[in-house]
Amino acid sequence: MKLSVKNIHNFVSEDEILALKADAEQSLKMLHNKTGCGNDFLGWVNLPSQISQSDVDDIQATADKLSKLADVVIVIGIGGSYLGAKSVIEALSHSFGYLQTERKHPAVIFAGQNISEDYAFELLETIKGHRVAAVVISKSGTTIEPAITFRLIKKYIEDACGIEAARERIIAVTDKARGAMNTIAQKHGYKMFAIPDDVGGRFSVLTPVGLLPVAIAGFDIKKLVEGAADMEKATDASTAFEQNQACIYAAARNALYRKGKNIEILANFNPKLHSFAEWWKQLYGESEGKNGKGIFPASVNFTTDLHSLGQYIQDGKRMLFETVLSVESPKHKLTVPADEENIDDLNFIANKRIDEINKCAEEGTVLAHIDGGVPNIHISIPEISEYNLGQLIYFFEKACGISGYMLGVNPFDQPGVEAYKKNMFRLLGK
Ligand code: PA5
Repeated sequence: MKLSVKNIHNFVSEDEILALKADAEQSLKMLHNKTGCGNDFLGWVNLPSQISQSDVDDIQATADKLSKLADVVIVIGIGGSYLGAKSVIEALSHSFGYLQTERKHPAVIFAGQNISEDYAFELLETIKGHRVAAVVISKSGTTIEPAITFRLIKKYIEDACGIEAARERIIAVTDKARGAMNTIAQKHGYKMFAIPDDVGGRFSVLTPVGLLPVAIAGFDIKKLVEGAADMEKATDASTAFEQNQACIYAAARNALYRKGKNIEILANFNPKLHSFAEWWKQLYGESEGKNGKGIFPASVNFTTDLHSLGQYIQDGKRMLFETVLSVESPKHKLTVPADEENIDDLNFIANKRIDEINKCAEEGTVLAHIDGGVPNIHISIPEISEYNLGQLIYFFEKACGISGYMLGVNPFDQPGVEAYKKNMFRLLGK
């Protein structure tokens, strides 16, 4: 992974970023020494290097077993209990996998991330006749969205194949001792994976929360963890600011925020990264948006959104900065066909790789946005792979912890999430 902040220097100077060096290094140390607020939720900091081979093997064996029993696995969870897995699976999957009839691994469907009656109805309608298994993920075990969906899916599986067989087809990922989901799993004898007490939802992708669904979808969780572990090493407390990409990213975005750039847009030029941006938005939004502070995280998929939000980014209120997440090489090769008629006048790009055109669009966009007053941070990976996604996940988590401390908030709580729940439960007469 490479990070460049050179295209923010028209807006914040190198000296202004360097002025935040001590603050960033101090925040990094607070994460490692566990001396900052939310320090009982720092289990993710050393998770990649501490995950044991037997834990990975257990997750893989469970995934292999489910793959034999089911052709559709429903992953039930919301927020940090689904976004990480979804982002990795979507990035690594065939773009049109849902149309493929022959598959080596079960189709993974995400549910329990909304309270839409139509979504639930159509899900039940769609899975009819398929061999279905479920992974229910909830750390608290009491979140209403996955709880409702779990009732529906549990009933569906039990009705379809009987209570005994259902036991084999339902896996719970939850707190090791507390919560309704733990109680249900114990009572029904479901295989259970524990979410560590000291890892919060949005930092849990490298626990069974993320690893189990990714393994079920047929991707290499060892490589994902390996990428994250290498990034853990590269951003540890002994790595000086100048070499520590997590510190530099955190300092750059805080410097921009202090100059009135209140919104960060994560931009990709690859639709496979759409859900990765959704994961990133949760990570930063829930960690930093509190006490009246925080950079608002937004995302765009380019070039698609250049034909919609592109206008605002180029020309609207100047409160934005952009972080481009770039993929150096695509997996496949495809060129623009030559056409003798050339009515569309496109022969000037005939025989060019589609990706070469995409890269010119990327470069052109970055230049245009900088000219338009939008500072640009650039992050690139050589290709989309388990290893590189593992690096990115850990990098963004680490930078988020540092950045949150620099902002003066507790990045590891989410008190604001309770407000809607209180009202909803009151309206429901609980
Ligand atoms: O990051 C978080 O803590 C939240 O987004 C939670 O993951 C989300 O609210 C789901 O919670 P739970 O896993 O307890 O059902």
